[in-house]
Amino acid sequence: KKGSYDHFMQKEIHEQPHSLTTTMRGRLKDSGVLLGGLKEHIKTIRRSRRVVFIGCGTSYNAALAARPFMEELTGIPVTMEVASDLLDRQGPIYREDTAVFVSQSGETADTLLALDYALENGALCVGITNTVGSTLSRRTHCGVHINAGCEIGVASTKAYTSQIVAMAMLALAVGSDQISTQARREAIISGLSSLPSNASEVLKLDAEMKELASSLIDSESLLVFGRGYNYATALEGALKVKEVALMHSEGMLAGEMKHGPLALVDENLPIIVIATRDACFSKQQSVIQQLLSRKGRLIVMCSEGDASAVCPSGSCRVIEVPDVADCLQPVINIIPLQLLAYHLTVLRGFDVDQPRNLAKSVTTQ
Ligand code: UD1
Ligand code: BG6
Ligand code: NA
Repeated sequence: KKGSYDHFMQKEIHEQPHSLTTTMRGRLKDSGVLLGGLKEHIKTIRRSRRVVFIGCGTSYNAALAARPFMEELTGIPVTMEVASDLLDRQGPIYREDTAVFVSQSGETADTLLALDYALENGALCVGITNTVGSTLSRRTHCGVHINAGCEIGVASTKAYTSQIVAMAMLALAVGSDQISTQARREAIISGLSSLPSNASEVLKLDAEMKELASSLIDSESLLVFGRGYNYATALEGALKVKEVALMHSEGMLAGEMKHGPLALVDENLPIIVIATRDACFSKQQSVIQQLLSRKGRLIVMCSEGDASAVCPSGSCRVIEVPDVADCLQPVINIIPLQLLAYHLTVLRGFDVDQPRNLAKSVTTQ
């Protein structure tokens, strides 16, 4: 089943050009997107006062990656809920809300309990899942199957990128009545159709990520700074490193750096800064300068050809990735970090597909 690969996680990382293709198959048209499962509900979603994204772990991070373009293309405020925290707080959910539940397995107990709670409160409940026939798929009013193919590695990889793409299609469908964003939507649709080839391109960084992993093998900790579209990339990159490579890692909002995390910076702690091209680029350039002036040990992820723009002194390690439509950049940017976490795990001698203490699907509370 693993074919020529040593581990399922490795296979699933390398499968992404294909899984992204199957997620979009039959759904992407020049004129817009067609999501069979949503057509009867799009008008209701458009009228909702708020969209609430709900999930756990990697699925929560995928929703966080979708939040900026969902807000931008629909104009509807989007709030984020970790499923267990929504339940702990019994946070307010209203009939006028659209609650979007994101779950690879469709069987995560916390997410399903949050779904019961949202159904009781009368919200329109939409599922984003990889599993046809799952409890999530059955109990939601409507939804989108991401069609990424079966995922076996406990650390979610291809489901993450397909979830983001499914939510991009959701945002395009909900926002399709807005004339002012027509050109923007067309650019994103064209960006979506090139994603599989961009994913193939970025996978060529495999050997470089293995080399980077070997330089981090003895580190105690790894920070990842992102912002805007790539805040989620920082959280998800750090989650991959902690769950499989068993190394302490935190993803952080770069805008919060000066409000605390800056105290940790020294010449030993490795820090990945995501600084690909988007509206936050110049802010990330100044973050890099502030970190360098405190002798930070930096690994900067930037768009192809931007090495000297992000690190004029040449003192950072640079990962160059293909440039895609800014809001889709998280789909590409996570791939080198998945590869890094994978190689770090193998080099540190840990179990890649079955990490210590974790389960693929947590079906108890
Ligand atoms: C559907 C078929 C697909 C077929 C296509 C042809 C299924 C599962 N899918 O795909 O095989 O090729 O039509 O037009 O038979 N749903 C939820 N909650 C979720 C996910 C989905 O309620 O979390 C519902 C949807 O609202 C929809 C149904 O499940 O009613 C199928 O969803 P999806 O597979 O995404 O629909 P299509 O892409 O139209
Ligand atoms: C578990 C897995 O904790 O559940 C994570 O170990 C996963 O990898 C999380 O992200 C949520 O799973 P699902 O199936 O709801 O997306
Ligand atoms: Na359903």
